[in-house]
Amino acid sequence: MRSGPAPESLPEGLRLPRSRTAGPGRSTVGPEGRLRGHALRANSIIGRDLAVDLGTANTLVYVRRRGVLLDEPSVVALNDSTGDVIAVGHEAKAMMGRTPDNITALRPLRDGVIADFEATEQMLRHFIARVHKRRYFAKPRMVICVPSAITPVEQRAVKEAGYQAGARRVYVVEEPMAAAIGAGLPVHEPTGNMVVDVGGGTTEVAVISLGGIVTSLSIRTAGDQLDAAIVAWMKKEHGLMLGERTAEEVKITLGSAFPSPGEPEGEVRGRDLVTGLPRTVIVTTADIRKALEEPLHQIVDAVRVTLDQTPPELAGDIMDRGIVLTGGGALLHGLDERIRHETGMPVHVADNPLVSVALGAGRCVEEFEALQQVLITNPRRF
Ligand SMILES: Nc1ncnc2c1ncn2[C@@H]1O[C@H](COP(=O)(O)OP(=O)(O)O)[C@@H](O)[C@H]1O
Ligand SMILES: [Mg+2]
Repeated sequence: MRSGPAPESLPEGLRLPRSRTAGPGRSTVGPEGRLRGHALRANSIIGRDLAVDLGTANTLVYVRRRGVLLDEPSVVALNDSTGDVIAVGHEAKAMMGRTPDNITALRPLRDGVIADFEATEQMLRHFIARVHKRRYFAKPRMVICVPSAITPVEQRAVKEAGYQAGARRVYVVEEPMAAAIGAGLPVHEPTGNMVVDVGGGTTEVAVISLGGIVTSLSIRTAGDQLDAAIVAWMKKEHGLMLGERTAEEVKITLGSAFPSPGEPEGEVRGRDLVTGLPRTVIVTTADIRKALEEPLHQIVDAVRVTLDQTPPELAGDIMDRGIVLTGGGALLHGLDERIRHETGMPVHVADNPLVSVALGAGRCVEEFEALQQVLITNPRRF
């Protein structure tokens, strides 16, 4: 349906923006700057396309032509009796481990899969409403990143969450591909690029060449398992019970994957398992490194196994160009050094590892046509 003046009454050379009449899948994208007036008008009518990094720990939303406008923990707080959403994101994360009986603060994407579909959908809807504000009537196209090992059923669940959240078309892109694009790797060239994305619930290792994933491995060992290892270690060594959030803080401030000079030590507060009272102990970085050994070993092993399965030409490229680390886990002290040490490959940490995936998915919405190859295409809806 058209509204406004008919095309023939417009001044010579001025046409209605195409996307006002075009169906889904087409757009007004041209080289930056060209058709700018039209594109702006089109955007205000059809809404801006979005890219969503639906991570197990953090969700980021990238808005076309605007950049990353939302970066919040993937947490929802629900009222148990009514099922209403009480809070999402930062506000809900602050409630974790501190809720009364009738409220549950949960992470709907635990372990790299959608553990709670309804909560995921509600969270996504709230986040999208937040960036869309006054454009609530607009139905954007949406690119959503999913772990590469996701099953078709899980992938459908993610897409459905996007449609339920108001998208008119949902595209899915594999996380390692988005991470590689976001980290600035030349994914379209005939050269091997290895990206290792250590997130909250999954570590994704992938070798990319010519716009496709050549080999990949996804394991369910990442940031969360590092936190859990700290909880287990504190319990065993000190008889101290730690909350999940405290364990994460310990990991970030004291955690390490490889020894380095001048390592810090710090106080950790928890609840004594015997007396039930709060107690503080001093732990060193070397202690925490010991605690993290098992999950760290699994992460490094995933890199090694993937390298092993990489065709020789591409392995040679990786030897030259190095491995790129992304995801929040890339910030763990010494992880780059550890992987360098154990694989003999050069390793670089992406500039902004927590936003690589969102930036890469963002590139896909900025350049839909150019990057369509990397989007997983399957029939509309299901
Ligand atoms: N400085 C840091 N050192 C170690 N781990 C970190 C650091 N910053 C964030 N993390 C971890 O990164 C993980 C989140 O990374 P992210 O890439 O957002 O995950 P996801 O994509 O699964 O949402 C969490 O486990 C968090 O504890
Ligand atoms: Mg991620």
